[in-house]
Amino acid sequence: MKKAVILYGGNTRKSRLKGLLDKAEAFLTANDFVFETIYVHELPAEDLINANFKSKSIMEANAKVELAELIIIVTPVYKAAYSGILKTYLDLLPQTGFEGKTVLPLVLGGSFGHLLVIDYALKPVLSALGATTILKGAYIVDTQVEYAENDRFLIDPQAEERLNRVLELMREEESRYSSSIHR
Ligand SMILES: Cc1cc2nc3c(=O)[nH]c(=O)nc-3n(C[C@H](O)[C@H](O)[C@H](O)COP(=O)(O)O)c2cc1C
Repeated sequence: MKKAVILYGGNTRKSRLKGLLDKAEAFLTANDFVFETIYVHELPAEDLINANFKSKSIMEANAKVELAELIIIVTPVYKAAYSGILKTYLDLLPQTGFEGKTVLPLVLGGSFGHLLVIDYALKPVLSALGATTILKGAYIVDTQVEYAENDRFLIDPQAEERLNRVLELMREEESRYSSSIHR
């Protein structure tokens, strides 16, 4: 079974970003991936801020990342970049922590003004971490995600279509990769 890790870079589970996470999780479940979600803001803040590489929680998170073939990054746009919350954890990964992995970025911003965050801010870091394949991600605007009752989120059909497309491309990429290494 294909293993995935989702890194959630939001500051709360109540954020509309969780709508993107729910979508990614539902897709992975429907496509028989085994996955774990790491909520970075729920890791010990002291360890993140002090770059405590010896932290048990950080080492556990890193072990999950190590085992995964696929990483989905779910982050809000903060100040024209991905969140600092996410960065505190990325800094604690080994230097080539994403080597051999396929990475899919899913980003939520307040406007389309920062559409290039994926290319200009996120991709250089993912490359530095050794990501083998960085997939075309999706940039969604927060007005396209609505908080509904019972901690559910409604995603605008156009945005949902875009998410479906990048998730499907990710699935195809993963099956191509698995069949090539099993040949
Ligand atoms: C500190 C902070 C900085 C932000 N900076 C930007 C920004 O530079 N560009 C942008 O498009 N949205 C920006 N936003 C908007 C968030 O990306 C967006 O509203 C958020 O992902 C939606 O989450 P919410 O449901 O928690 O509000 C910012 C939000 C916060 C809290």
